[in-house]
Amino acid sequence: MKQITVTEAAALLSNGHVVAVPTETVYGLAARYNDAAAVQQIFTLKNRPLDHPLILHCESINAITTFGRDIPNYVYTLAQQFSPGPLTYILKKTNIVPDQITAGQDTVAIRIPAHPVIQQLLNELKQPVVAPSANPYCQLSPSSAEHVYHYFGNHVAILDGGRCNVGIESTIIDATDPNRITLLRPGGIHLEQIQQCTGVECISKQASKIHYPGNKKVHYAPKTPLQLLDRATIEGRLKTNTSTHCAYVLISDTTPESKMVTHLPSDPKGYAQLLYHTLHQLDQQNFDCIIIETPPQNSAWQGVNDRLNKASATA
Ligand code: TXA
Ligand code: MG
Repeated sequence: MKQITVTEAAALLSNGHVVAVPTETVYGLAARYNDAAAVQQIFTLKNRPLDHPLILHCESINAITTFGRDIPNYVYTLAQQFSPGPLTYILKKTNIVPDQITAGQDTVAIRIPAHPVIQQLLNELKQPVVAPSANPYCQLSPSSAEHVYHYFGNHVAILDGGRCNVGIESTIIDATDPNRITLLRPGGIHLEQIQQCTGVECISKQASKIHYPGNKKVHYAPKTPLQLLDRATIEGRLKTNTSTHCAYVLISDTTPESKMVTHLPSDPKGYAQLLYHTLHQLDQQNFDCIIIETPPQNSAWQGVNDRLNKASATA
Protein backbone atom coordinates (compact mmCIF):
# COMPACT_ATOMS: atom_id res chain seq x y z
CA MET A 1 0.00 0.00 0.00
CA LYS A 2 1.49 3.32 -1.11
CA GLN A 3 1.52 5.94 1.63
CA ILE A 4 0.65 9.52 0.70
CA THR A 5 1.01 12.71 2.70
CA VAL A 6 -1.73 15.22 3.45
CA THR A 7 -0.20 17.64 0.92
CA GLU A 8 -0.17 14.92 -1.75
CA ALA A 9 -3.78 14.04 -0.95
CA ALA A 10 -4.79 17.70 -1.29
CA ALA A 11 -2.99 17.91 -4.65
CA LEU A 12 -4.69 14.74 -5.90
CA LEU A 13 -8.12 16.07 -4.88
CA SER A 14 -7.38 19.43 -6.52
CA ASN A 15 -6.45 17.58 -9.71
CA GLY A 16 -9.77 15.76 -9.88
CA HIS A 17 -8.94 12.48 -8.16
CA VAL A 18 -10.79 10.50 -5.51
CA VAL A 19 -8.74 9.87 -2.34
CA ALA A 20 -9.56 7.60 0.62
CA VAL A 21 -9.36 9.59 3.84
CA PRO A 22 -9.45 8.74 7.53
CA THR A 23 -12.17 10.09 9.79
CA GLU A 24 -12.81 9.28 13.45
CA THR A 25 -15.84 7.13 12.44
CA VAL A 26 -14.80 5.12 9.36
CA TYR A 27 -12.66 5.81 6.26
CA GLY A 28 -14.33 7.77 3.48
CA LEU A 29 -13.90 8.02 -0.31
CA ALA A 30 -13.42 11.74 -0.80
CA ALA A 31 -13.77 14.15 -3.71
CA ARG A 32 -14.08 17.92 -3.85
CA TYR A 33 -17.79 18.62 -3.46
CA ASN A 34 -18.05 20.65 -6.68
CA ASP A 35 -15.93 18.36 -8.87
CA ALA A 36 -18.69 16.58 -10.81
CA ALA A 37 -16.40 14.06 -12.52
CA ALA A 38 -14.68 13.04 -9.29
CA VAL A 39 -18.02 12.78 -7.45
CA GLN A 40 -19.31 10.56 -10.25
CA GLN A 41 -16.18 8.44 -9.83
CA ILE A 42 -17.09 7.86 -6.16
CA PHE A 43 -20.47 6.42 -7.18
CA THR A 44 -18.79 4.24 -9.80
CA LEU A 45 -16.07 2.95 -7.46
CA LYS A 46 -18.63 2.08 -4.78
CA ASN A 47 -21.20 0.77 -7.24
CA ARG A 48 -23.60 3.01 -5.33
CA PRO A 49 -27.02 4.03 -6.69
CA LEU A 50 -27.03 7.68 -7.80
CA ASP A 51 -30.06 8.46 -5.63
CA HIS A 52 -28.06 7.98 -2.43
CA PRO A 53 -26.84 11.43 -1.39
CA LEU A 54 -23.38 12.11 0.04
CA ILE A 55 -22.26 13.80 3.27
CA LEU A 56 -20.41 17.10 2.93
CA HIS A 57 -17.37 17.19 5.25
CA CYS A 58 -16.43 20.73 6.29
CA GLU A 59 -13.47 21.97 8.30
CA SER A 60 -15.54 23.98 10.75
CA ILE A 61 -19.11 24.65 11.72
CA ASN A 62 -18.69 28.17 10.29
CA ALA A 63 -19.28 26.68 6.83
CA ILE A 64 -22.78 25.63 7.81
CA THR A 65 -24.47 28.81 6.60
CA THR A 66 -22.77 28.55 3.20
CA PHE A 67 -24.33 25.17 2.52
CA GLY A 68 -27.37 25.03 4.82
CA ARG A 69 -30.27 27.44 5.32
CA ASP A 70 -33.09 27.95 7.86
CA ILE A 71 -30.79 26.48 10.49
CA PRO A 72 -32.56 25.80 13.81
CA ASN A 73 -30.85 27.18 16.94
CA TYR A 74 -30.42 23.72 18.42
CA VAL A 75 -27.94 22.92 15.64
CA TYR A 76 -25.55 25.50 17.09
CA THR A 77 -26.10 24.10 20.59
CA LEU A 78 -25.31 20.61 19.32
CA ALA A 79 -22.32 21.83 17.32
CA GLN A 80 -20.79 23.38 20.44
CA GLN A 81 -20.79 20.03 22.13
CA PHE A 82 -20.41 17.51 19.30
CA SER A 83 -18.71 19.17 16.31
CA PRO A 84 -16.07 18.42 15.23
CA GLY A 85 -17.22 14.86 15.81
CA PRO A 86 -19.41 11.96 14.70
CA LEU A 87 -22.65 13.91 14.19
CA THR A 88 -24.18 14.65 10.76
CA TYR A 89 -26.83 17.35 10.33
CA ILE A 90 -29.42 17.17 7.55
CA LEU A 91 -30.35 20.76 6.69
CA LYS A 92 -32.24 22.56 3.96
CA LYS A 93 -29.62 23.31 1.30
CA THR A 94 -28.49 26.52 -0.32
CA ASN A 95 -28.13 26.92 -4.10
CA ILE A 96 -24.37 26.45 -3.91
CA VAL A 97 -24.84 22.74 -3.13
CA PRO A 98 -24.77 20.68 -6.36
CA ASP A 99 -27.79 18.42 -6.98
CA GLN A 100 -25.36 15.62 -7.71
CA ILE A 101 -24.40 15.26 -4.04
CA THR A 102 -27.94 15.56 -2.64
CA ALA A 103 -29.56 13.26 -5.22
CA GLY A 104 -31.76 16.18 -6.22
CA GLN A 105 -33.24 16.54 -2.71
CA ASP A 106 -33.78 19.91 -1.08
CA THR A 107 -31.57 18.92 1.86
CA VAL A 108 -27.85 18.47 2.44
CA ALA A 109 -25.99 16.35 4.99
CA ILE A 110 -23.14 18.19 6.75
CA ARG A 111 -20.53 16.84 9.16
CA ILE A 112 -17.44 18.35 10.74
CA PRO A 113 -15.04 15.41 11.13
CA ALA A 114 -12.72 15.44 14.15
CA HIS A 115 -9.86 13.26 12.93
CA PRO A 116 -6.72 15.45 12.87
CA VAL A 117 -5.60 14.12 9.47
CA ILE A 118 -8.81 15.02 7.61
CA GLN A 119 -8.88 18.30 9.53
CA GLN A 120 -5.40 19.08 8.18
CA LEU A 121 -6.48 18.02 4.70
CA LEU A 122 -9.57 20.25 4.72
CA ASN A 123 -7.41 23.09 5.96
CA GLU A 124 -4.95 22.70 3.07
CA LEU A 125 -7.69 22.17 0.50
CA LYS A 126 -9.67 25.21 1.64
CA GLN A 127 -12.96 23.61 0.63
CA PRO A 128 -15.22 20.77 1.75
CA VAL A 129 -15.16 17.23 0.41
CA VAL A 130 -17.97 14.74 0.03
CA ALA A 131 -17.18 11.34 1.49
CA PRO A 132 -19.29 8.22 1.76
CA SER A 133 -17.78 5.29 3.62
CA ALA A 134 -14.94 3.72 1.60
CA ASN A 135 -16.56 0.35 0.93
CA PRO A 136 -18.40 -1.15 -2.03
CA TYR A 137 -22.16 -0.64 -1.75
CA CYS A 138 -23.70 -2.66 1.11
CA GLN A 139 -20.42 -4.13 2.32
CA LEU A 140 -18.73 -3.67 5.66
CA SER A 141 -17.35 -0.16 6.27
CA PRO A 142 -13.58 0.22 6.64
CA SER A 143 -12.09 1.26 9.97
CA SER A 144 -8.46 1.11 8.84
CA ALA A 145 -6.41 1.94 5.73
CA GLU A 146 -5.82 -1.81 5.25
CA HIS A 147 -9.57 -2.39 4.95
CA VAL A 148 -9.77 0.26 2.21
CA TYR A 149 -6.82 -1.32 0.41
CA HIS A 150 -8.53 -4.70 0.62
CA TYR A 151 -11.52 -3.25 -1.29
CA PHE A 152 -9.91 -0.90 -3.81
CA GLY A 153 -6.23 -1.94 -4.02
CA ASN A 154 -4.20 0.57 -5.99
CA HIS A 155 -7.23 2.11 -7.73
CA VAL A 156 -7.51 4.72 -4.99
CA ALA A 157 -4.74 6.58 -3.16
CA ILE A 158 -5.14 6.12 0.60
CA LEU A 159 -4.27 8.70 3.22
CA ASP A 160 -3.48 6.55 6.26
CA GLY A 161 -4.64 7.97 9.59
CA GLY A 162 -4.48 4.75 11.61
CA ARG A 163 -7.45 2.95 13.15
CA CYS A 164 -10.71 4.87 13.47
CA ASN A 165 -11.48 5.85 17.01
CA VAL A 166 -15.28 5.71 16.94
CA GLY A 167 -15.40 2.71 14.62
CA ILE A 168 -18.98 3.01 13.31
CA GLU A 169 -20.51 5.67 11.05
CA SER A 170 -21.71 9.03 12.35
CA THR A 171 -25.08 9.64 13.93
CA ILE A 172 -27.34 11.34 11.34
CA ILE A 173 -30.11 13.69 12.44
CA ASP A 174 -32.77 15.45 10.41
CA ALA A 175 -32.37 19.04 11.59
CA THR A 176 -34.83 20.68 9.19
CA ASP A 177 -37.61 21.10 11.77
CA PRO A 178 -37.01 23.81 14.41
CA ASN A 179 -39.25 22.01 16.92
CA ARG A 180 -38.15 18.44 16.53
CA ILE A 181 -35.01 16.39 15.84
CA THR A 182 -35.31 13.07 14.03
CA LEU A 183 -32.64 10.42 14.38
CA LEU A 184 -32.07 8.89 10.93
CA ARG A 185 -29.03 6.76 11.72
CA PRO A 186 -27.76 6.03 15.24
CA GLY A 187 -23.97 6.17 15.68
CA GLY A 188 -21.30 7.37 18.06
CA ILE A 189 -23.64 9.91 19.65
CA HIS A 190 -26.98 8.63 20.89
CA LEU A 191 -30.51 9.98 21.09
CA GLU A 192 -30.47 10.71 24.82
CA GLN A 193 -27.29 12.78 24.51
CA ILE A 194 -28.92 14.85 21.75
CA GLN A 195 -32.09 15.29 23.76
CA GLN A 196 -30.17 16.24 26.87
CA CYS A 197 -27.95 18.74 25.05
CA THR A 198 -30.78 20.54 23.25
CA GLY A 199 -33.92 20.02 25.32
CA VAL A 200 -35.67 19.58 21.96
CA GLU A 201 -37.97 16.61 21.30
CA CYS A 202 -36.05 13.76 19.60
CA ILE A 203 -37.72 10.94 17.73
CA SER A 204 -36.31 8.02 15.80
CA LYS A 205 -36.69 7.64 12.09
CA GLN A 206 -39.80 5.44 11.91
CA ALA A 207 -41.89 8.56 12.58
CA SER A 208 -40.04 10.71 10.04
CA LYS A 209 -41.34 11.54 6.58
CA ILE A 210 -37.87 12.42 5.31
CA HIS A 211 -36.62 10.38 2.39
CA TYR A 212 -33.62 8.49 3.70
CA PRO A 213 -31.91 6.47 0.99
CA GLY A 214 -29.22 3.99 1.93
CA ASN A 215 -31.30 2.61 4.74
CA LYS A 216 -31.64 -0.84 3.28
CA LYS A 217 -32.27 -3.69 5.65
CA VAL A 218 -29.20 -5.63 4.50
CA HIS A 219 -26.23 -3.35 4.86
CA TYR A 220 -22.83 -3.20 6.48
CA ALA A 221 -22.63 -6.95 5.98
CA PRO A 222 -19.63 -9.28 6.00
CA LYS A 223 -19.64 -12.09 3.40
CA THR A 224 -19.84 -14.77 6.09
CA PRO A 225 -23.43 -15.26 7.34
CA LEU A 226 -23.91 -13.50 10.65
CA GLN A 227 -26.37 -14.41 13.37
CA LEU A 228 -27.29 -12.79 16.68
CA LEU A 229 -27.96 -15.08 19.65
CA ASP A 230 -28.30 -14.60 23.39
CA ARG A 231 -25.39 -15.46 25.67
CA ALA A 232 -26.93 -18.57 27.22
CA THR A 233 -27.63 -20.14 23.81
CA ILE A 234 -24.07 -19.42 22.67
CA GLU A 235 -22.60 -20.92 25.84
CA GLY A 236 -24.75 -24.00 25.32
CA ARG A 237 -23.45 -24.34 21.76
CA LEU A 238 -19.86 -23.92 22.83
CA LYS A 239 -20.24 -26.80 25.28
CA THR A 240 -21.65 -29.23 22.73
CA ASN A 241 -19.52 -30.33 19.81
CA THR A 242 -21.18 -28.96 16.70
CA SER A 243 -19.96 -29.86 13.24
CA THR A 244 -20.21 -26.33 11.86
CA HIS A 245 -17.13 -24.16 11.99
CA CYS A 246 -18.40 -20.93 13.51
CA ALA A 247 -16.74 -17.89 15.05
CA TYR A 248 -18.30 -16.58 18.27
CA VAL A 249 -18.21 -12.95 19.40
CA LEU A 250 -19.01 -12.44 23.07
CA ILE A 251 -19.18 -9.36 25.27
CA SER A 252 -16.48 -9.71 27.88
CA ASP A 253 -13.52 -7.77 29.23
CA THR A 254 -11.47 -10.91 29.77
CA THR A 255 -9.21 -12.79 27.32
CA PRO A 256 -10.97 -15.64 25.47
CA GLU A 257 -9.78 -19.20 26.00
CA SER A 258 -10.64 -20.59 22.58
CA LYS A 259 -9.54 -19.53 19.09
CA MET A 260 -13.15 -19.71 17.94
CA VAL A 261 -14.15 -17.02 20.42
CA THR A 262 -13.52 -13.27 20.23
CA HIS A 263 -14.25 -10.99 23.18
CA LEU A 264 -15.41 -7.40 22.65
CA PRO A 265 -15.52 -4.83 25.47
CA SER A 266 -18.59 -4.40 27.67
CA ASP A 267 -18.67 -0.64 27.22
CA PRO A 268 -20.53 0.34 24.03
CA LYS A 269 -17.87 2.80 22.85
CA GLY A 270 -15.06 0.27 23.16
CA TYR A 271 -17.27 -2.32 21.45
CA ALA A 272 -18.11 -0.02 18.51
CA GLN A 273 -14.45 0.86 18.07
CA LEU A 274 -13.54 -2.79 17.47
CA LEU A 275 -16.72 -4.02 15.75
CA TYR A 276 -15.86 -3.57 12.04
CA HIS A 277 -12.24 -4.43 12.71
CA THR A 278 -13.33 -7.75 14.23
CA LEU A 279 -15.85 -8.49 11.47
CA HIS A 280 -13.26 -7.78 8.74
CA GLN A 281 -10.81 -10.13 10.48
CA LEU A 282 -13.33 -12.94 10.97
CA ASP A 283 -14.64 -12.54 7.43
CA GLN A 284 -11.22 -13.47 6.07
CA GLN A 285 -10.92 -16.71 8.01
CA ASN A 286 -13.42 -18.89 6.11
CA PHE A 287 -15.78 -19.55 8.99
CA ASP A 288 -19.19 -21.03 8.08
CA CYS A 289 -20.88 -18.39 10.20
CA ILE A 290 -20.24 -15.64 12.70
CA ILE A 291 -22.38 -15.88 15.84
CA ILE A 292 -22.62 -12.67 17.85
CA GLU A 293 -23.95 -12.21 21.36
CA THR A 294 -26.94 -9.84 21.24
CA PRO A 295 -25.83 -6.65 23.02
CA PRO A 296 -27.98 -4.85 25.63
CA GLN A 297 -30.96 -3.07 24.09
CA ASN A 298 -30.49 0.38 25.61
CA SER A 299 -29.80 3.79 24.08
CA ALA A 300 -26.01 3.64 24.47
CA TRP A 301 -25.93 0.47 22.33
CA GLN A 302 -28.29 1.78 19.63
CA GLY A 303 -25.56 2.42 17.02
CA VAL A 304 -24.00 -1.01 17.51
CA ASN A 305 -27.40 -2.76 17.48
CA ASP A 306 -28.42 -0.95 14.29
CA ARG A 307 -25.29 -2.20 12.48
CA LEU A 308 -25.58 -5.73 13.85
CA ASN A 309 -29.26 -5.98 12.92
CA LYS A 310 -28.49 -4.85 9.38
CA ALA A 311 -25.46 -7.12 9.07
CA SER A 312 -27.50 -10.13 10.20
CA ALA A 313 -30.60 -9.37 8.08
CA THR A 314 -31.19 -11.91 5.36
CA ALA A 315 -33.41 -9.95 2.97
O1 TXA B 1 -19.36 8.55 9.60
C1 TXA B 1 -19.81 8.80 8.49
O2 TXA B 1 -20.89 9.44 8.33
C2 TXA B 1 -19.01 8.33 7.27
C3 TXA B 1 -17.66 9.05 7.26
C4 TXA B 1 -16.84 8.74 6.04
O3 TXA B 1 -17.87 10.43 7.40
N1 TXA B 1 -19.75 8.54 6.07
C5 TXA B 1 -20.83 7.79 5.74
O4 TXA B 1 -21.38 8.13 4.50
O5 TXA B 1 -21.27 6.92 6.44
P1 TXA B 1 -22.37 7.13 3.73
O6 TXA B 1 -22.57 7.79 2.42
O7 TXA B 1 -21.82 5.77 3.72
O8 TXA B 1 -23.68 7.22 4.56
C6 TXA B 1 -24.39 8.43 4.61
C7 TXA B 1 -25.85 8.20 4.67
C8 TXA B 1 -26.41 7.54 3.43
O9 TXA B 1 -27.29 6.50 3.82
C9 TXA B 1 -27.16 8.65 2.73
O10 TXA B 1 -28.27 8.20 1.99
C10 TXA B 1 -27.59 9.53 3.90
O11 TXA B 1 -26.49 9.47 4.77
N2 TXA B 1 -27.78 10.93 3.46
C11 TXA B 1 -26.88 11.77 2.91
N3 TXA B 1 -27.44 12.94 2.58
C12 TXA B 1 -28.74 12.87 2.95
C13 TXA B 1 -29.87 13.76 2.86
N4 TXA B 1 -29.75 14.96 2.33
N5 TXA B 1 -31.04 13.32 3.34
C14 TXA B 1 -31.17 12.08 3.88
N6 TXA B 1 -30.16 11.19 3.97
C15 TXA B 1 -28.96 11.57 3.52
MG1 MG C 1 -21.85 3.76 3.97
